[in-house]
Formats: sequence, structure tokens, C-alpha cells
Amino acid sequence: MFDLRSVLLGAGLGAATALLLGARRRRGLPPRGLPRQAAPVDTTSVLSAGKAAVIIGSGSGIGRAAALRCVALGMKVMLADIDVADATAVRDECIAAGAPPDTVVVQPCDCTREEQVRAAQVAAYKAFGRVHLLMNNAAVQTNNRCGPYEHPDRWRRILDTNLFGVYLGGLCFVPHMLDQEEPAVVVNTGSKQGITMPPGDTAYNVSKAGVKVLTEALQHELRSTAGCKVSAFLLVPGCVNTMIRTRGDKWVEGADFKPDRAKDEREYNGVRDRAYAAQKWAERGAWQPEQVIDELFDAIGAGTPFYVICQDGETTRAMDDGRIQWAADDVLYRRAPLSRWSDDFRTEYAEIAKRFV
Ligand SMILES: NC(=O)c1ccc[n+]([C@@H]2O[C@H](COP(=O)([O-])OP(=O)(O)OC[C@H]3O[C@@H](n4cnc5c(N)ncnc54)[C@H](O)[C@@H]3O)[C@@H](O)[C@H]2O)c1
Repeated sequence: MFDLRSVLLGAGLGAATALLLGARRRRGLPPRGLPRQAAPVDTTSVLSAGKAAVIIGSGSGIGRAAALRCVALGMKVMLADIDVADATAVRDECIAAGAPPDTVVVQPCDCTREEQVRAAQVAAYKAFGRVHLLMNNAAVQTNNRCGPYEHPDRWRRILDTNLFGVYLGGLCFVPHMLDQEEPAVVVNTGSKQGITMPPGDTAYNVSKAGVKVLTEALQHELRSTAGCKVSAFLLVPGCVNTMIRTRGDKWVEGADFKPDRAKDEREYNGVRDRAYAAQKWAERGAWQPEQVIDELFDAIGAGTPFYVICQDGETTRAMDDGRIQWAADDVLYRRAPLSRWSDDFRTEYAEIAKRFV
């Protein structure tokens, strides 16, 4: 049937593309596609009462906020974490928020261990029958103390947790989610550090770049499978007030760790008060985990975008886009790697960055 709207849309897109390509060709740049989003995926009723979520890495921070949001929506939740005391405390909060006790399950789970992730899958299906939301969210970092040729022990733990743990979550859960034949979602938590790669925590950047690649491949695979109702999203937080830095300091500093200098979601410089810590972190430009969950659940609810790139208190969308473009241009222009931070390009970058508004 002749569809005038499609013809006009096609003609409009064609003309816009031609204009764009003409301008870019004149500037010596390769042709680019139009800046348009993909069609939304079907996430009907994933985030709704009675559905089940498994959150691996849920004892604090973004995972904790996700759990509390799921509970507020009437969902059932499995809190899977290596830190059982923290996961249990989150369960108490969920119940205090109104969740029926039998709908919130704590599952001891080290995501680096396949048998423990498989045990979590078995336990989740035993408890809930189905899983509609899987969040592979656990990660560790060393706060800029894991460069390209040092600390093999730290490298292993970071890659095992942040990348292999995410892979194992998909390996153990996705086949079962596919069998359900109803909309379900996998969220893998990445980081802007896995896209723009600031120097310092190289192992963390490598792990998060890996999570991006893995999640892109997963979503491609899912959308290319006929009849598949499972979709994947990549969550990319900015700077967020969580426990990750304190956990990293405790790990790396061991006995030298100074608890009264901790700055995290529970405590700031010795003041153990969540509201105070949240305010101090907000003053430093961090988002609260709940803001990240707002972005994520909006995207899941709408079925788009796949890349849930969160801003924070000091980073705008324009800054994020500018930084991502600059990093890609390092390759395109055969520039120095990480040129933003190189002596050759630092000044030029600072000038250009003034226009990221
Ligand atoms: N906080 C930020 O600024 C920020 C920025 C970008 C990305 N992220 C990402 O967000 C995600 C959540 O981190 P967060 O900031 O909420 O940190 P967090 O430390 O508060 O929470 C991480 C959770 O993962 C758990 N965990 C660690 N190792 C585990 C393992 N082997 N098995 C199972 N659970 C394990 C921890 O016990 C903790 O409960 C991570 O993937 C992190 O890389 C955080």
C-alpha cells in the first residue's frame, strides 16, 4: 500500500543526510549517519508489581537504590552480593518500605564464581518462578591505583568482578529468561571510564570498556533473534555517591585505611549520617544513586535508549558528548591516545571544551 508519510519521511531523511554529508565532506570528515535513536524495544510491564528482579551487587549504592525502587513498584527482589551483611541490611530497608518479607531474598553470591552465580539463578527461579530484570551491577575499583604495568593481583580481581562477573550473570540467567517468552531486561553497569578512559585506573577502564563491548554484542544478538523478548541496556553512571571508593580504599590500604576519612553514602569525614553525606557529595557534583535509577528506569520503561548515559552535578550532556567525540577523534585523526591529557593537546582540548555547553 502507498504510504505517503513514509515517503515524505524518507525524502526528508534523505535530504537531511545529503546536507550533512555535503558539509562533512567539505570539512574532510567521513560521512556520518543521522543522529536518531533506534526504535524502542518491548519492555512491557517489566517494571511492575509482581515481576521479579535479580540485582547482583545490591548491598549499597546504585544496586541498593535499584532494589528499593523495585520494591516501591511492588516487584520481588533477589539481593545477590558478596557482602551478605550489607545485602541483609538492604533487605531490612525493603521490608521497612513495605515489601512483604517473602518477596525479598538475600543470596550470598561472589559474581566471579560461576557456581555461585548459577546457584543464584537456581534460587531466583525457585523463589520467583521467573526473572524479568537482571542487573549485573557488582564492581570494584582501586581509586587510581592500578596502572598499565602494575599490581597483577588487583588487575585480576577487577577484571574477574567487573567484566567476568557481568559475563557470568548473562551466561547463567539469559537462557532461562529467553525461555520465559515474555519481555525481560538485562542491565549491565558500565562507566564513562569505559568510554573515555581517563588515565589512572587502567584496569577499571579496561573492565568497563569490556562491559560496553559485551553488552553491545548481547543486545545485537537479542534483537537479531527472531521472536526474542529479552533486551539489554548499558547503564553508564557519572560520579555517584556510593560505597565504591571506600570499598576500594579498604581493599588497597588494608590496615592503613582510616575510617574517619571515609567519604561515601553512609559517612563523610567521620560523620555517620546519610543525609549529610549526600549533601556533601552533591556539593562535590555527584549524583545520588536514586537519580541514576530514575534515568535507568525511565529508559527501561520507554524501551530506549540502550546507552543510559547519566549526567551528574557537574557534567552536562554536552560535556559528555564532547568528551566521547574527542576520544573517538583520537583514533580518527591518528592522534595521541588519551590526547586530552597529553602535553601536545591539553591546551587545545581546554579551548574546545569551553564549547561543550
Ligand atoms: N559510584 C560511581 O561514581 C560510579 C560511576 C560509574 C560506574 N559505577 C558503577 O556502578 C556499579 C555499582 O557501584 P556503586 O558505585 O553503587 O558501588 P558500591 O560499592 O556501593 O556497590 C557495589 C556492590 O557490589 C558488591 N560487590 C563487589 N564485589 C562483588 C562480587 N565479587 N560479587 C558480588 N557482589 C560484589 C559490593 O559488595 C557492593 O554491594 C558498579 O558497576 C560501578 O562500577 C559507579
